[in-house]
Amino acid sequence: MSTRFAPLKNDTFLRALLRQETEYTPVWMMRQAGRYLPEYKATRKGAGSFMSLAKNPDFATEVTIQPLDRFDIDAAILFSDILTVPDAMGLGLYFEEGEGPKFERPLKDEKEILALKVPEAGSLQYVFDAVTQIRTTLNGRVPLIGFAGSPWTLACYMVEGQGSRDFHTVKSMMYKRPDLMEHILRTNADAVAAYLNSQIDAGAQAVMIFDSWGGALADGAYQRFSLRYMQDVVNQLQREKDGQRIPVIVFTKGGGMWLEQIADIGADAMGLDWTVNLGQARARVGDKVALQGNLDPAVLFAEPAQIREQVIATLNSYGQPSIGHGHVFNLGHGISQFTSPDAVSVLVDTVHEVSRAMRKGAV
Ligand code: CP3
Repeated sequence: MSTRFAPLKNDTFLRALLRQETEYTPVWMMRQAGRYLPEYKATRKGAGSFMSLAKNPDFATEVTIQPLDRFDIDAAILFSDILTVPDAMGLGLYFEEGEGPKFERPLKDEKEILALKVPEAGSLQYVFDAVTQIRTTLNGRVPLIGFAGSPWTLACYMVEGQGSRDFHTVKSMMYKRPDLMEHILRTNADAVAAYLNSQIDAGAQAVMIFDSWGGALADGAYQRFSLRYMQDVVNQLQREKDGQRIPVIVFTKGGGMWLEQIADIGADAMGLDWTVNLGQARARVGDKVALQGNLDPAVLFAEPAQIREQVIATLNSYGQPSIGHGHVFNLGHGISQFTSPDAVSVLVDTVHEVSRAMRKGAV
């Protein structure tokens, strides 16, 4: 056992990921540390930019803890970004006020692509330092999730140079020069695996792979250019640390078509967006993986009674926990910056209250 960190006081989230019995359904939210919280905006203003927040372990720790001080959530997630990896590969990540992420030097020609390398671990040391500092500060309060982007999702930003509506550039490369695309994806897979393993060494207690743009791919292309490389990452991960299992969550947004195949790559849990019915997903993947999700983030714009109704519908769609455990409540994608924090309290408290009652057969 590691004596570096305090023992966990609340391991409900880890237990649910491993489909073990829990007293209630654990809950956390993608992008739970972010601009919908006034305290986040204040810290970010003080730091000057998103990257100076992420690169400073004191700031990263502060904003990771902020949502835990407001809501009774069951997990913390490292404050960072998936694009730190291509940044460390030399692409020059920057954020302009009010705009999404961009790269100064996107991958354009063959020479640059063939020169792409797994970054030196030292170039991402600030992330690993943040992980250790957050885990120490949590002091066993809840587990800490580490994360990375999928090889394909990172490639989308690396080739486009920024977010995109139609992924014109990266898809052109994929169809015209699959050899170059596969070179990028293989490099990304090795980089992501090393990055996640270092986060686990630094103290991450579960890891999640975000495949935000896998759902933009055609059937066939998804398996060849996204899923295969997530499987490569999963195969390379350490699954145990200090005698504890480190659960792995994979999340392809828009991946509802491919649940059976995603469940087969060896992860412990699968994230689902709001287009999928949890009960049907459960019937399709059986007991291969736990399920994480999947309330539409837009529900949080409704009135408290309506939020409550939708949260209960989501819990019910998973079905009685007594006939199979393994649901982690989450949103189907990141929380919107226009959400009221009060709406989040309604969500979290309803999940806990109603899922406890469901286990007692009271609802
Ligand atoms: O969930 C958390 O609280 C942890 C932190 C986290 C961030 N980004 C912080 C962030 C996580 C897990 C991510 C993942 C991420 N980043 C993904 C995958 C998940 C998804 O949303 O699909 C992607 C595609 C990115 C790339 C990225 N970073 C985009 C598209 C943006 C702009 C989005 C926006 O809302 O403007 C970012 C910036 C970013 N990353 C912000 C935060 C809190 C907002 C930036 C700010 O403070 O100005």
